Amino acid sequence: MVIDNITATFEKGKTNMVIGQSGSGKTVLLKCIVGLLDVDEGEIYYNDIQFNALSFKKKKEIRQKIGMLFQGAALFDSQTVEENVMFPLNMFTNMAIAEKKERVAFCLKRVDIVGANKLYPAEISGGMKKRVAIARAIVLNPEFLFCDEPNSGLDPKTAVVIDHLIKEITEEYGITTIINTHDMNSVMGCGDKVMFIYNGKKWWEGTRFDVLDSDNQELNDFVFASALTRKIKGM
Ligand SMILES: Nc1ncnc2c1ncn2[C@@H]1O[C@H](COP(=O)(O)OP(=O)(O)O)[C@@H](O)[C@H]1O
Ligand SMILES: [Mg+2]
Repeated sequence: MVIDNITATFEKGKTNMVIGQSGSGKTVLLKCIVGLLDVDEGEIYYNDIQFNALSFKKKKEIRQKIGMLFQGAALFDSQTVEENVMFPLNMFTNMAIAEKKERVAFCLKRVDIVGANKLYPAEISGGMKKRVAIARAIVLNPEFLFCDEPNSGLDPKTAVVIDHLIKEITEEYGITTIINTHDMNSVMGCGDKVMFIYNGKKWWEGTRFDVLDSDNQELNDFVFASALTRKIKGM
């Protein structure tokens, strides 16, 4: 069993952080929440709806309310920035092309990407790719936004900028956001609510302000190891 006996509530308009070392079960938990993996036991609710009891078709309706940001930007390399962001609109809406373009332009502007519509992913920086991926994740106005290690592969400064962008968007649009991370910088920067997973179990929960005062040994080890890594890397 990869994850076991995790009970958690994720709050609207907040960045809910799931932290833990590599292999602790963060990605598996997120995949269970969106239904990419089935749970053997337990219940997953979106508002009042029990998601894991729904038919395939009904699950799909909920999925349309979820924006996802996977590890790596996961853009389509053969599509331009604009086409990437438009993709969900093409898939899930009957909007007219002019309306789609307008929505794409709005989302790209929101993530501060201007004048790059016709570029391909290979032509833009890692940080820009993340921004484009965020624009694509919010293009359908999601109620929920799930980000798996949104910072991975970015330099520390860009990582902070991306964290803040996700937090701002979460608050601005009242989204229920879950961020998986092993980066303590992210936690201290924007973890409204923090859940620490250890060996697939919920081990600790609190706010980012509680993290440093906790007497949970494994959490302290995790925080310490992370601080040490930053020091060694000169971050
Ligand atoms: N689909 C799967 N089925 C079974 N085990 C898995 C699956 N995916 C990942 N695992 C295992 O589950 C554990 C947790 O993995 P993961 O959720 O990816 O960790 P994290 O995202 O916290 O780094 C790891 O030991 C991994 O090898
Ligand atoms: Mg992972």
